[in-house]
Amino acid sequence: MLSYRHSFHAGNHADVVKHLVQVAILDYLLKKDKPFCYHDSHAGAGLYSLLAEQAQKTNEYQGGIAKLWQHEVQNPTLQRYIDVIKQLNTDDELAFYPGSPKIAALMLRSTDSIQATELHPTDYPILASQFARRRYSRIENMDAWAGFKAMLPPLYKRGLVLIDPPYELKTEYQDVVAGLQLAYQRFPQATYAIWYPVIERDAVEAFIRELVNTGIKNQLRIELCPHSDSSGYGMTGSGMLVINPPYTLAATMREVLTEIQPHVAANSDWQVHQLVPE
Ligand SMILES: C[S@@+](CC[C@H](N)C(=O)[O-])C[C@H]1O[C@@H](n2cnc3c(N)ncnc32)[C@H](O)[C@@H]1O
Repeated sequence: MLSYRHSFHAGNHADVVKHLVQVAILDYLLKKDKPFCYHDSHAGAGLYSLLAEQAQKTNEYQGGIAKLWQHEVQNPTLQRYIDVIKQLNTDDELAFYPGSPKIAALMLRSTDSIQATELHPTDYPILASQFARRRYSRIENMDAWAGFKAMLPPLYKRGLVLIDPPYELKTEYQDVVAGLQLAYQRFPQATYAIWYPVIERDAVEAFIRELVNTGIKNQLRIELCPHSDSSGYGMTGSGMLVINPPYTLAATMREVLTEIQPHVAANSDWQVHQLVPE
């Protein structure tokens, strides 16, 4: 039963952190001429209207992208992310927000490949229609973990795999650990970015320990919490666990989070830590 719809949450503070990390990694991969593969295991609908009923009902984007997109910024990754958002919007109105596969489509070259899986029967066709004319793309209405078996390793032996489940079911934490191990065995050269929500601190730390205990080397943790653990909010923050990060990612994200912190929430807290060495 798939009840989660990303259209209610698009552009919130968690999307901002996730997509800033995505943009930083893609920008790094784009530095080399050689093409690469972007694989999105839980892709969503690809493009969201912030003026539509779902986004207006929660107004979550007001606590995320709406606070940032019109600021003059210093950090080039932050600027690149804002430029992507601006490609879809006019100067004075924030009407659309891109999901992770759309961000990849806007950034990648025509020679790079995009693979994505999305299970939701309504979101999948919306996503697939945006890629109908893109040559090197494979967008499947398929379970994420079956997608790893079917599509990894890709033709190009470098790339980014984004793992971004809704965590509606408690079992999804275990699924991520098993799915990561499966994907990593098949495609160890890739960078992996795993999104996680901060809801209950103890559960987050247990999940992170499980990822560390896989024995996979070179793990970087990036987290931004606009609310404190005890504030009573459902999701107080979110993070990304990045495996095989570009060597520049930790420093870039420290700069980016320092710059966005006062805009997103004055009392927000962030961390960037190498959890497992190379
Ligand atoms: C958090 S949203 C993805 C957002 C997207 N990655 C982005 O950043 O724009 C999670 C998506 O995973 C989909 N989903 C849930 N379980 C799945 C599964 N087992 N396989 C593939 N997709 C799944 C949901 O329908 C939902 O669209």
